Amino acid sequence: MEHPGQLDFETLAAHAGAHRATGETRATSSALSPSTTYTYDSIADVHAALGPDPQGFAYSRNSNPTVATFEEVMAELEDAEEVVAFGSGMAAIHSVFLGMGLEAGDSVTVASDLYGATRSLLSLLASFDVSAHYVDIMDIRAVESALKNARSRLLYLESISNPLLRVPDIKALVKLAHRHRAVLVVDNTFASPLLIRPLQHGVDVVVHSATKYIAGHGDVMAGLVAGTASTARRVRAVRTGSGGILSPFDAWLAMRGVKTLPLRVARQSDSALEMAQWLESCPWIRRVYYPGLASHPQHERAAELFGGRFGGVVAFDLSGNRETTLAFIDSLRIIGSATTLGDVVSLVLYPPLSSHRMLDPNELQAVGIGDSLLRLSVGLESVRDLKADLHQAALAVGISQTETAASLLT
Ligand SMILES: Cc1ncc(COP(=O)(O)O)c(C=O)c1O
Repeated sequence: MEHPGQLDFETLAAHAGAHRATGETRATSSALSPSTTYTYDSIADVHAALGPDPQGFAYSRNSNPTVATFEEVMAELEDAEEVVAFGSGMAAIHSVFLGMGLEAGDSVTVASDLYGATRSLLSLLASFDVSAHYVDIMDIRAVESALKNARSRLLYLESISNPLLRVPDIKALVKLAHRHRAVLVVDNTFASPLLIRPLQHGVDVVVHSATKYIAGHGDVMAGLVAGTASTARRVRAVRTGSGGILSPFDAWLAMRGVKTLPLRVARQSDSALEMAQWLESCPWIRRVYYPGLASHPQHERAAELFGGRFGGVVAFDLSGNRETTLAFIDSLRIIGSATTLGDVVSLVLYPPLSSHRMLDPNELQAVGIGDSLLRLSVGLESVRDLKADLHQAALAVGISQTETAASLLT
């Protein structure tokens, strides 16, 4: 099916994969092609399939028709020349660190408020004499001095940070990175391409844990790298060498998830905003972190960058200590305790024991992750049920004494 001109995001998402779904059957859903290998009519075809710019398919560790269809869909949604799909977000991030030309003696400048496993991966680069410099990404001067002084070839950050939901000044950082000849890589997992397509702002490379909002249903592990054709060629070489390609079935499932990405993320963002506003009014909450709140330090920037939606994740500090916070999680009945986000069900996570468990107490403190911080990924349940669940947990652990929270009735 040809797309008539420039279509809107919702239309592209709903038709995900349909451009490869015609043929004999005229199916509306794209085909699933689990074949591991492909036969050829001639040796010339073998050569074309295995060459540097492969024509056709050779072996499914290199590329696969269903994975390629998913990549085409995501290239449209991220406004990228090309997308390369991986078996997890970490495999995608690994391919960027390995594929983007870092050499011994180079460094990477990294936002300190960052998904913990990305930090762990960066620490492995030390054995290749590539160091990571962590900076407060809100402090443009600190970023500039790290780029200048540390032979930094790459600047790495998250468009909405995990877990404190900070929103960096992407436009200023693009200029800064390019002035210092550093490649700017943005992890767009929390925002999803519905909120922002960082390549449109001049970012060089976008990575995703597509396990989260893109696939969206808690049943697929997947990762993406989006960028120019030259970036794609580099990271694809890492993928072929390491065997990190996405499986065809997971590509197919992820593509099915993409069809409802705009609906899901819009609803999750609306619900998260309502939850954040309510949490801010609860006496048993010390602080709420959500870019949609007027109280958030980067609220105006987020409103401008994300077009009025702020994502489905809210973080908050309970008024209580670590024990109370852990007991609070155990008391929840609807909201599950799990180490992921972007699912259709709401999930809560305690960063010091999960996403950021590899940070020692000093590092946690330096990043701003306190003992009572919780990260809530808001799903598709009714907001009233979610508020009631949080409130009954607050009653159960004794941080709220109000049997019927007035704010629940509004
Ligand atoms: C911001 C962010 N980036 C990357 C990842 C890694 O993705 P995956 O778990 O799909 O490997 C995660 C996982 O939670 C994440 O939150």
